[in-house]
Amino acid sequence: MAKAFLKPGEVSSRKQFQEPNSSRLLGIGESSYDYESIIAASMVARNTSLPIHNYKEALLYAVKEYRTVVVVGETGSGKTTQIPQYLLKAGWTDHGRAIVCTQPRRIATTAVAARVAEELDESKGTLGEVVGFAVRFDNCWDSERTKILYATDGTLLRMMLTDPLLLKFQVVMLDEVHERTIATDILCGLLKKIQRLRSDLRVIISSATVDAEKFRDFFETNVTEDCSSNTAIILSVEGRSFPVDIYYTTYPVQDYLQAAYETTLEIHRKQQDGDILIFVPSSEQVDHLLERFQSNEFQICSLRKDRKRLCCVPLYSGLSYREQLATFQPAPSNERKVVVSTNIAETSVTIQGIVFVIDTGFCRMRVHSPETGMDLLCIQSISRASADQRAGRAGRSCPGKCYRLYTEDCYWKLLTENSVPEICRTNLATAILQLKAIGIENVMNFSFIDPPSAKSVATAFEVLYAIDAITEDGVLSDFPGMVMADLPMEPFLARTLVAAKDFECVREIITIIAMLQVEQVPGDSVFKYSSSREHKSFEAARKPFGVAEGDLLTLVNIYDAFEASGHSMRWCSNHGIVPRLMKKARLLRRSIALSLSNVMYGLYGSAALSKADGLLSQKNPDPSSVIKATLKGFFMNSAVVQPDGSYLTLVGKRSVTIHPSSVLASRLPKYIVYCESIHLKRIYIRNITVIEPQWLIQVAPHVFEKRKSRIEEKWKNLISE
Ligand code: CDP
Ligand code: MG
Repeated sequence: MAKAFLKPGEVSSRKQFQEPNSSRLLGIGESSYDYESIIAASMVARNTSLPIHNYKEALLYAVKEYRTVVVVGETGSGKTTQIPQYLLKAGWTDHGRAIVCTQPRRIATTAVAARVAEELDESKGTLGEVVGFAVRFDNCWDSERTKILYATDGTLLRMMLTDPLLLKFQVVMLDEVHERTIATDILCGLLKKIQRLRSDLRVIISSATVDAEKFRDFFETNVTEDCSSNTAIILSVEGRSFPVDIYYTTYPVQDYLQAAYETTLEIHRKQQDGDILIFVPSSEQVDHLLERFQSNEFQICSLRKDRKRLCCVPLYSGLSYREQLATFQPAPSNERKVVVSTNIAETSVTIQGIVFVIDTGFCRMRVHSPETGMDLLCIQSISRASADQRAGRAGRSCPGKCYRLYTEDCYWKLLTENSVPEICRTNLATAILQLKAIGIENVMNFSFIDPPSAKSVATAFEVLYAIDAITEDGVLSDFPGMVMADLPMEPFLARTLVAAKDFECVREIITIIAMLQVEQVPGDSVFKYSSSREHKSFEAARKPFGVAEGDLLTLVNIYDAFEASGHSMRWCSNHGIVPRLMKKARLLRRSIALSLSNVMYGLYGSAALSKADGLLSQKNPDPSSVIKATLKGFFMNSAVVQPDGSYLTLVGKRSVTIHPSSVLASRLPKYIVYCESIHLKRIYIRNITVIEPQWLIQVAPHVFEKRKSRIEEKWKNLISE
């Protein structure tokens, strides 16, 4: 493998990693703010060494004087953990309003909240009091006592349905905006609107890359009646970071997992101590690579005279808190830590001690399929900005090295400069549904940082109309539209859940949604043996639960058997099932039932709890009702079998293939509906159920009878108006 990389010193392939820079730097010493009152509480010593610490006063000054502060700084400089604490100690929450800090990912939200709770209070255990978190299906905060709330961006957006001016909050910090998730982009537009009505609200935009001017300009043009405070400024946190040498391959790599494996061994054999971070696209590939390291443990150890071992750990968003701990703990002195991670280590979390980064150049992302109006998961090349972020992970504590498993030519010619914002590549149905529920009727006039195309808005309108969320005139329907906007899940699942009431199978659909959530990441399965290598063991473990109707009812069977066992952990291990995931499904079922009791039945407190229990106890023995309810949300994903064993979607005529993990993979029924598709070598579909074609006309007559073209015409007019 070594020969694939140009030797260090061959200048064309060796670059110094560039620090981000910014045109408008607010330095220390420019401040005229009175800090006497601020220095009340002393920071924990470890935090005084973080780069952000030198900017504390400048930051507090900027937040006082400017309505929007854009903070740019390398990952690990202390933005997420420290800024809310500085504001708290400076008295920004003294008048009864809290600080909220959003994160695009659940895993970062809960981890950072736990960390900050610990930093604030040495006695620990206070999470949910002064510091709390709110993520989908999980709340740990107190509206009276919580002063710093970490929330996912989607959760804050949902909070706006009941608190449209975000009056609970004095400061809103949108963190990791460079990730450009739809929810963060929409929050930017909504906050800009709120700032016109609330001159007291402060907005902090925090980002790891240099898109700062774009965000500053977006908020700077905000016209307000009250001109007493300035609009927007950039604060650039210059971190202490070390140079990173970058190495490219001399020719394109065929199998990047193999190349990552060989490069790791090469580093281990020849290079000085220091941990290794490998970026691969998916959790499935993280597991594959880990297996490869584990099965060759013996040879790896003999690579070095000192017989130092590799300690390989995974990092992806489905991991439990306990599993994450190993990733963050230093390896013993006789081992070198290798962290195999998805995109998540790019900016969301910081791991100490990384000296070498291996970058495959790919990530997995959601992209919109214009034919069906739904999203696909695909593996795609990263952007140059992402590649630079990845490289930067190597230079946090000393000079580092980054091995890119692609050529320099590819870096410059094939990778785009920045990643495409999610709003320009995924299905907009959820976003538009939420904007409408908040009261933004005219979506095309909404202030977007990067507006989505009119075509993708039109497709979203079609999808929302098809699932009854909006009327023919594009207006949100009270029922089921408003209910769907309020339910914390994507509209297709929400539609299914609403339909479950009519089909009297709420319990089964709640179970399905909970199990799908648990298995959300492809490769994540409630079965222990889920990698492709263990396919036989996987099939054997699933056999007792499998049913001819398909995957969804199989999931219901697994859950019901778990419940019948009295939620026994022993039962799980006897059946090759991961107890942690079943426990998670159990908690999720309750949260979903509770949401439904709030949203659809308008119940709160103990009445909602007893309704939720009621919903979870009514069994429906008729499988066809469960399938019809599913079809009500997912009929756009119906497909018919082809002579070669592939399927053709009925809407959009797209060729798809059943994923080998489906119970229907060897049965090939004539008509099916699926809940998810993944773009690998082909488009694979998962979570599939057999349907009767006449049910389609029954559940979606407006799509499967010939009225569609007339409606499409109408959307076109609505959008061009
Ligand atoms: O947001 P930013 O990337 O600028 O930094 P941060 O997340 O506030 O992290 C500051 C420091 O706190 C990092 O060096 C991490 O090592 C540490 N940290 C941690 O140990 N555990 C967490 N859950 C979060 C941060
Ligand atoms: Mg951060």
